[in-house]
Amino acid sequence: MAGKLFVCDHPLIQEKLATLRDRSTGHEEFRRTMSQVSTLLGAEALRGVRTRKTVVRTPLGKSPATVTTQPVAFVAVLRAGLGMLPGLQHLLPQAHIGHIGLYRNEETLNPVRYYVRLPKNIKDCFVVLCDPMLATGGSAVESLHILKTDKARQIVLLSLIAAKAGVARVQREHPDVPIYLAGVDASLNRSGFIMPGLGDAGDRLFAT
Ligand code: PRP
Repeated sequence: MAGKLFVCDHPLIQEKLATLRDRSTGHEEFRRTMSQVSTLLGAEALRGVRTRKTVVRTPLGKSPATVTTQPVAFVAVLRAGLGMLPGLQHLLPQAHIGHIGLYRNEETLNPVRYYVRLPKNIKDCFVVLCDPMLATGGSAVESLHILKTDKARQIVLLSLIAAKAGVARVQREHPDVPIYLAGVDASLNRSGFIMPGLGDAGDRLFAT
């Protein structure tokens, strides 16, 4: 069975996606907007985190309440995933942070691994894999393999924009991993860019 896919149609998320897509958006606004949309979509992606019931005292009495009990790890795929971290850390400052360094070979489009550093307690964490772009799906599939090899058990993929083919590949190879997105585009061009997409997220974030 294919993994679950959530494409969020919230108007604020859609407006921010429009800003990211717009070629006239400059680097500073692109960075700020990616951070903001990551906060909004990140809250939705964390819906499955473990909680417990408790009671808090309000100024007027006692109220039943719910608090989270599970550690959370945000794992950014370098480079573009770094642009999602500020907004996610704003949401959950105590979260653990991991990094997976991958780049795509420009000819084969296969991911090449150059750096991995993950939190020690990853097997207990609710893990949010962060990469704004899901194109062929190769980087996400490889990152999920790295996380599972390190014994991560509960993982969601948080991307912003995807090509249908990339979604299908992740769903096929990691059907246990829900995918959260702001948009899905129909195709990829020959260089493996999502069409119409938003260009190269890493370059737009870091002005390279
Ligand atoms: C981009 C993007 C994803 C990957 C998606 O990274 O940020 O990580 O491509 O493509 P895929 O689904 O086909 O694997 P890139 O390799 O350009 O590296 P960068 O973020 O360092 O620029």
